[in-house]
Amino acid sequence: MAEEVSEADAANRLMRLAKEIARHDRLYHDRDAPEISDADYDTLVRENRELEARFPHLVRPDSPSTRLGAAPSGVLAKVAHARPMLSLENAFSEEEVREFMRRVRRFLSLAAEETVAVTAEPKIDGLSCLLRYERGALVLAATRGDGAVGEDVTPNARTIPDIPQQIAAAPDVLEVRGEIYMSKQNFAALNQRQEASGGKVFANPRNAAAGSLRQKDPAVTAERPVRFYAHGWGELSQPLGATQADAMARIQSFGLPIAAMFRRCETVDAMLDHYRAIEHARADLPFDIDGVVYKVDRLDWQERLGQVARAPRWALAHKFPAEKAETTLEAIDIQVGRTGKLTPVGRLKPVGVGGVIVANATLHNRDEIARLGLRVGDRVRIQRAGDVIPQVVENLTRDEPRAPYMFPGHCPQCGSEAAAEEGEVDVRCTGGLICPAQRIERLKHFVSRGALDIEGLGQKTILEFAQVGWLQSPADIFRLHRHRTALLGREGWKEKSAHNLLAAIEAKRELDPARLLFGLGIRHVGIVTAKDLLRCFGTVEALRQAATRENGRAELSGVEGVGPVVAEALVDFFHEPHNREALHDLLSEVRPQPFTSAVRETEWTGKTIVFTGSLQTMSRDEAKAQAERLGARTAGSVSARTDLVVAGPGAGSKLKKAETLGVPVIGEGEWARIVADA
Ligand code: IVH
Repeated sequence: MAEEVSEADAANRLMRLAKEIARHDRLYHDRDAPEISDADYDTLVRENRELEARFPHLVRPDSPSTRLGAAPSGVLAKVAHARPMLSLENAFSEEEVREFMRRVRRFLSLAAEETVAVTAEPKIDGLSCLLRYERGALVLAATRGDGAVGEDVTPNARTIPDIPQQIAAAPDVLEVRGEIYMSKQNFAALNQRQEASGGKVFANPRNAAAGSLRQKDPAVTAERPVRFYAHGWGELSQPLGATQADAMARIQSFGLPIAAMFRRCETVDAMLDHYRAIEHARADLPFDIDGVVYKVDRLDWQERLGQVARAPRWALAHKFPAEKAETTLEAIDIQVGRTGKLTPVGRLKPVGVGGVIVANATLHNRDEIARLGLRVGDRVRIQRAGDVIPQVVENLTRDEPRAPYMFPGHCPQCGSEAAAEEGEVDVRCTGGLICPAQRIERLKHFVSRGALDIEGLGQKTILEFAQVGWLQSPADIFRLHRHRTALLGREGWKEKSAHNLLAAIEAKRELDPARLLFGLGIRHVGIVTAKDLLRCFGTVEALRQAATRENGRAELSGVEGVGPVVAEALVDFFHEPHNREALHDLLSEVRPQPFTSAVRETEWTGKTIVFTGSLQTMSRDEAKAQAERLGARTAGSVSARTDLVVAGPGAGSKLKKAETLGVPVIGEGEWARIVADA
């Protein structure tokens, strides 16, 4: 799916994915009330990751891949984790599992005959939790939260029989990580009780477990039969063993349960066999599982493999395939996006898929509707796929003689003509800022998390203020204070909330220019591109001048990180008088701060390192990962801007060039010492 998307679509899609995933995170983590199945959620995360891999310059500041779960809900006390609680990379096919193992081997630079043992165990569908023991006594239990900060659930965890209060043989500091879950049977019984007493009915066992654990009153948890099983550890005063399997056995010897189907496998085929065995056992297991987790067994290798973004390189979740369902397409609605794109959305007769009721499906675009021959009233097969809402994969009644669906030739919001540009599949409204839908979407984008991020000014509020006529363009946001009295007269607004909103807006007058530029919503200009542009031009105003100069396009295409597509989009944007006026107006209200690219400060921050020749003790990837951990960049060729060359045997022209330019050159051993000392 990611193969075919244009850059513009990718940018749009990434924006929507970031929002949608954040929304689902909140529903899942804070409210224990998900709207989509885990499989659908995984599909979103995966689509996001694939798009980011293909378009790295479009990675957003609020990218879901750099965020974990939702921030804690605020009801319970917060606790910072001694070590971040990571997530897992997902795989959905055997080939992806094989590729994972190839990657591990490559990274560690292992000989073909070297055995890479891996543990395999069920991925239980529960709630990640950490138990901290000090001198053998349970002192803390915490949820994962956003990975860095979780919630303190110690009194609640003490009521769970699987969790020992004391461990005689434990090291001084022992953090055990695992999953809190509820059995299918107990879940059904709990829901029955809840229903009888008029209480909250849970969507699935996972939510029931989460809702039961995250109670302010531990007596409630005590009444709910939640369980625990361990799958790892955090901070330790002493290692638990040399391998994952040994360490887990040790944890088990402390009296903590581990998964019954835990195995150590020595080949990929053995891993996949165990996956199938677990899949086979799935229906009969007393609890829900959604896949199998593999972990490289040797802990020294785990250490070397390290992590990327939010997940370790040494572990993989092999997910079970998601379910499909059949239903009726009851209507096709057209939504108009920020750039005027008309997106068809299928309204479905609600149907259960993987335990969640689904009522909407994306239909992508005009061509997709034609390809499937979709008409209102058709029976369709839906599936989790590359979308927030499920995808229609098949039309089951396309042979019935009925008139085809006519895609609108006019914008349903403003009536302007809607057309697809030559060679493009997307139909766009040509109304520009005349179109209320586009105007509102642009405003929403302007205040979104990656852009201005104004607390209290969400999508609903934007819509409300636009409808009363207070908001036409971004500058109006900074003039909202003029409507203070009228605002107080509106339902839902009180002195305090109005004050908070206006204060939050005031605080953003001195804004980050990269967020401002990104917030303008220029096609193809994600936050990374916005930063690249500012690095070159310094201010948005200077960029505007460049874009409106005669040779603007050529000048812009020459900027590092910017190509002809972005250059063209910038020129188009700044040539549009509406846009220039809106920007001018906005700049009269705000004071953008000088542009600075924030980086983590270490001795190696911002330095450029080149690895050349063959490395003996590590792969190129591992060396690069080490450099990145130190805050350095790596480059493929030596120039005057290179700060260090690490040369192994066989280094040729790069080494010579470094010597000519006087760039310091060190060997692999010295590099290893730098890494060890940092
Ligand atoms: S290992 C750094 N093992 O899945 C790796 N996680 O999707 C940490 N989960 O946050 C996780 N069963 O809550 C691991 N056998 C298992 C698991 C498991 C369930 C959960 C865990 C994690 C999430 C990632």
